[in-house]
Amino acid sequence: MTPVMTAVETQEKLSVKDLITGPELSRGDVELIFALAARMKRVPKSYAHALEGRQLAMIFEKPSLRTRVTFEVGMTSMGGHAVYLDHAKPRLGERESVADVARNLERWVDGVVARTFAHSAVVELAENASIPVINGLSDLVHPCQALADLFTLEERFGGLRGLRMAYVGDGNNVCHSLMTFGAKLGMQVNVATPPGFEPNEVMVKEAKEAAQANGGKIALFHEPLEACDGVQAVYTDVWASMGQEFAAQLRAQVFAPYRVTSGLMAVADRRAVFMHCLPAHRGQEVTDEVIDSPQSVVFDQAENRLHVQKAILLLLLAENVQ
Ligand code: CP
Ligand code: NVA
Repeated sequence: MTPVMTAVETQEKLSVKDLITGPELSRGDVELIFALAARMKRVPKSYAHALEGRQLAMIFEKPSLRTRVTFEVGMTSMGGHAVYLDHAKPRLGERESVADVARNLERWVDGVVARTFAHSAVVELAENASIPVINGLSDLVHPCQALADLFTLEERFGGLRGLRMAYVGDGNNVCHSLMTFGAKLGMQVNVATPPGFEPNEVMVKEAKEAAQANGGKIALFHEPLEACDGVQAVYTDVWASMGQEFAAQLRAQVFAPYRVTSGLMAVADRRAVFMHCLPAHRGQEVTDEVIDSPQSVVFDQAENRLHVQKAILLLLLAENVQ
């Protein structure tokens, strides 16, 4: 029987205090997260007491199903506890400064997950708290999502180096994190967006440098058929992210040629999987036929949010064990 592992017994550490943007993690950090997540998925009971007595605060300015449930269930399944803080209204920083929120929370809890509009709010929380802060999605990035997605691809294909993914749609937070971690792990990430909706230039530059260092490649396209040619994974996300609902109608027109259909999947590798972070707007960015097809791994991605985030929690919160 696998021995029960506590946080204290794990000698493994990440090179960072927080998970904020993504590029700050080393390749070794990501490999450590994946290795631990795979073990935790295989033998979850071995970690039933790993974070006993640990407390996590979860600040959400935006709605969530997957992120909230997986972090809360993740903590509970390791003997810890999570406190949900609804910050839809007032937003973080409106009632008191973000720095003061951080200085309060560090007196009561062992870690914070934050889902914010402004990326700077997560950065500020981390800078002002001695405890780990984990980005549960900001307007700029969604690192936990991309880590779970690439873990899903690694499970499916047995390795990531040289694997080709096409991201089709809006150059948004999910797109940025897929580029960041795909590049770090030696993948080729093709991104197809309408003109004017390309990913953030700074994130692209950073990802291109990481790709060069790790044998990967980042390539930008405007033509989805070109981006998807021969790839092993086709990924899409909503056309209007949380906070952009006011522009949804206009975006629906601009993005219509970027819908993932069976026709688009047909130009990918015959083993290709379809991926989506969810929630999906069926009939918009993806057809029912594709998302419900045997090629779709969207619920494997959702499941793996739990395992990958448990690994992140254990690695970061274990740092704090006295
Ligand atoms: N994919 C994702 O983060 O889902 P939620 O918005 O439901 O958390
Ligand atoms: N890009 C989407 C992802 C949701 C998980 C958003 O930010 O709303």
